[in-house]
Parts: sequence; C-alpha cells; structure tokens
Amino acid sequence: EMFQEVSGLSTKEKKLAEILGIKKVIIVPGDMDVDSSIQLLLGKEAGDYLTAIAKKDFTVAITGGSTVAALKNFLSPSKSLSTLTFVAARGSLGNEMNLQANTLVSQFAAKCGADFRTLYLPENLSETAFMTMIQEPIVKEVVDFYDRIDIVVHGIGTAKEMAYRRDSGESVIKMLDEKKAVGEAFGYYFDEAGNIIYRINTIGIQLEQVKQSPHIIAVAGGTLKAKAIQAYFKNETAHQTILITDEGAANAILNK
Ligand code: G3H
Repeated sequence: EMFQEVSGLSTKEKKLAEILGIKKVIIVPGDMDVDSSIQLLLGKEAGDYLTAIAKKDFTVAITGGSTVAALKNFLSPSKSLSTLTFVAARGSLGNEMNLQANTLVSQFAAKCGADFRTLYLPENLSETAFMTMIQEPIVKEVVDFYDRIDIVVHGIGTAKEMAYRRDSGESVIKMLDEKKAVGEAFGYYFDEAGNIIYRINTIGIQLEQVKQSPHIIAVAGGTLKAKAIQAYFKNETAHQTILITDEGAANAILNK
C-alpha cells in the first residue's frame, strides 16, 4: 500500500509537470490548508533541493512569504552552501517582518554561514520615487545581482491574500477583482489565462531576469492556491522551474 501511494504520487508529479509545462514537480503528501505543518514538508523538500544543486559562489534570489520562510529549518553549513550569496528578490513587504525577503536572506545566510544582500525599500513606490531610487548606488549594487542569479527560490500567492498583505488600497483591490486576478508572484498579478494584469511599483527582480536564471525553485501548496499556481505557470512559463507543492494543490489542478 505504501508503494502504491508513493508511485501514485510520482505519476501525479509527472502529469502535473506536463500540464504546467515545467521541468519537474515534487508533491508532498497532505494539504497545507487543512494541516499547516505541511508547509514544513515543502520547506524540507525545497531546502534539500537547493542543497543538492548549489555550487560554489552561486547567487540565490529569495522572495518572501511563509512557504519560502519554511526552508530555513532545513539549511545548514555545507561546502557549497556556505559560499552562497542570498539576495533579497525585492524590497520590503507591508509590515510583516518575518515574511520579508530581507529577513529571510539574513536568516538563510546565518544558517549556512553564507553571505547576503538586502534591499530596504518600501513597496508601492510612486513612479518618481521609483525612478530616483533605482539610480542610488546602494540600490544599484543589489539590482545588478538580478542579472546573474543562479538560483531563484520563490513563492506563489493568491491575488487576494497578497493584495491584503500589502495593504493595497481599495482601488487596487477593486481593480484586481474586476480584472479577475487569481495569482501573484514577484509582485506581478496574473489572471486565470496567465496574463499580467497588474504589477506593483517596486524594486525587485523582473520576470525576465527570473526566466534567465538556470535554476528556479517554486514552493506553493494548499488547495486554495491551485488557481494561483496554474495562472502563474500559464504566463510564458520559465520551463526550468521545479515546483514543490502538496497533494491539496496538485489534486485540485489535476482533477479540474
Ligand atoms: O508571492 C507570493 C508569496 O510569496 C506567497 O506567500 O507562502 O506566505 O503564501 P505564502
């Protein structure tokens, strides 16, 4: 029975990778929405995967979010991990310090004995502020990293939750609703067909730069994120992505 379950999952992993058009899917048993501890399993798989592919002096861009945060429990100093530079993929996110890319890169680096770069800037900058800030040397130093990232580790969120977390104004929330945003990643919001319908004005890694990265690890689970995950991967997917998800999200996509 155990074997059946395991082989059942691996069949699902292959199917899901095909549907999403990506290199590989890893499915952990359970549903994060029902049992929040499943998020730790996602973190473990992602941490193990990162450890397996990391090479000397790699740069690793990290987004925020509770799922990416779960990796930190599964990182420890090793020959390659301790030579990494973890780079915050974006400026800060609302007020939730624990979920910010900046906080996570310093925590990951501490776990591995690695280096890190932060980007302390508010999200939702005005156009003028954005254009000014991006030219500041201290910002430029980090932004230049985005062109030569070896590994991206990122979460995928539902549009609603992310807009809420960012304290986006009522007009933005209304617009996201009208344009039927379902998913979010890297500050881009996607509709069900994968169209980018909105992006927040922030300094951070651009989708084009993500796609240039040779390794991408996406971590997102829970039935409620199924639509968000599909939407993100419909947008001219970065085919080299490895998605680490749970049965909740996987079943919801496969049984549609
Ligand atoms: O961009 C999406 C977020 O990283 C998802 O955050 O893992 O806390 O749901 P979460």
